[in-house]
Amino acid sequence: MKLWTRWMGAVALVCIAGTNASAQIAGSAHNFSSYGWSGGEICKPCHTPHFAIEGMPRLWNHELTTATYTMFEGETGTAVDNFDYASRMCMSCHDGTVALDSFGGQTGTTFIQPRSNLGIDLTDDHPVGSDAVYPADRPTSFNPPSADGRTVTFGGVSLRLKSWDDAGTIKYVVGCTTCHNAHNRGGYPHMTQSTMASSQMCLVCHIK
Ligand code: HEC
Ligand code: HEC
Ligand code: HEC
Ligand code: HEC
Repeated sequence: MKLWTRWMGAVALVCIAGTNASAQIAGSAHNFSSYGWSGGEICKPCHTPHFAIEGMPRLWNHELTTATYTMFEGETGTAVDNFDYASRMCMSCHDGTVALDSFGGQTGTTFIQPRSNLGIDLTDDHPVGSDAVYPADRPTSFNPPSADGRTVTFGGVSLRLKSWDDAGTIKYVVGCTTCHNAHNRGGYPHMTQSTMASSQMCLVCHIK
């Protein structure tokens, strides 16, 4: 996905739209209830109150990707080993290998639209997971994380790093949900966690 070429568009959108009124999932691209395959529900493609996938948090209901990716730095890595759990959840629709309607134990046939398909080559995407361990020791380049390592706060915005199990050692990394809110909280374009006006979200971490 060409993340880089699109920031300017995102900034422009924010200026026009600001924080919109439908700052919840119902008003977002993640409200699938109008698609036939969703059964008319909003949460169910992703969560279930019963019979969730064992071993996953958040009562997860969507079939998980097992893909091997070309990671940002060019090496290969699997969703199982190299991602935080939430990024793996996202990529279970957004890498194009698992159907949108593969949830609740059924195998679906509808795949994500090309414009939202990041694919399995992540070399052109912002690093996540094993490629994005948050550096606590580069104070001229990165704002310091909180004492417990879990959040970064700057300019009144706090972003959550995700825990990632590096073969038994817990590290805090940038994941999809560090920058995006799956439920459209805030109502920012592209479901970002905070405004992209003046690239504010990027500046929470990067000292530039
Ligand atoms: C497109 C997938 C998707 C849909 C649809 C979705 N969620 Fe989520 N939800 C997630 C993901 C991914 C997480 C985990 C986020 C994390 O831990 O970083 C999550 C986490 C949660 C959590 C726990 C943490 C939190 O963020 O509050 C709750 C509660 C939740 N979802 C409720 C709901 C409800 C209720 C609905 C329907 C109205 C819903 N979700 C729809 C993807 C989705
Ligand atoms: C059940 C499948 C599914 C899961 C799981 C899922 N998405 Fe999506 N997502 C979609 C679909 C479908 C769209 C709309 C695609 C389109 O219309 O191009 C979408 C759209 C988006 C968009 C574009 C929104 C916009 O307005 O431009 C973002 C950003 C996004 N998803 C991020 C995430 C993140 C981050 C996660 C994990 C927290 C996630 N998604 C999990 C299916 C999913
Ligand atoms: C460092 C922050 C950051 C991370 C990490 C991140 N994104 Fe994004 N993403 C953005 C921003 C900002 C935009 C909006 C700018 C744009 O259009 O490219 C965006 C746009 C998107 C879009 C909309 C595509 C489009 O061009 O309309 C999707 C889908 C998406 N992200 C999914 C993901 C998924 C899945 C992950 C995890 C693998 C992820 N993002 C990780 C910041 C991030
Ligand atoms: C939550 C913290 C965080 C946020 C927010 C964030 N980044 Fe990053 N960014 C990182 C980390 C961590 C790395 C990996 C650093 C490393 O390993 O050297 C990184 C790497 C990068 C790189 C270097 C890639 C390379 O060639 O090595 C660029 C460029 C970048 N980010 C741009 C952005 C932009 C643009 C945004 C806003 C859309 C953004 N970042 C938001 C934490 C963040």
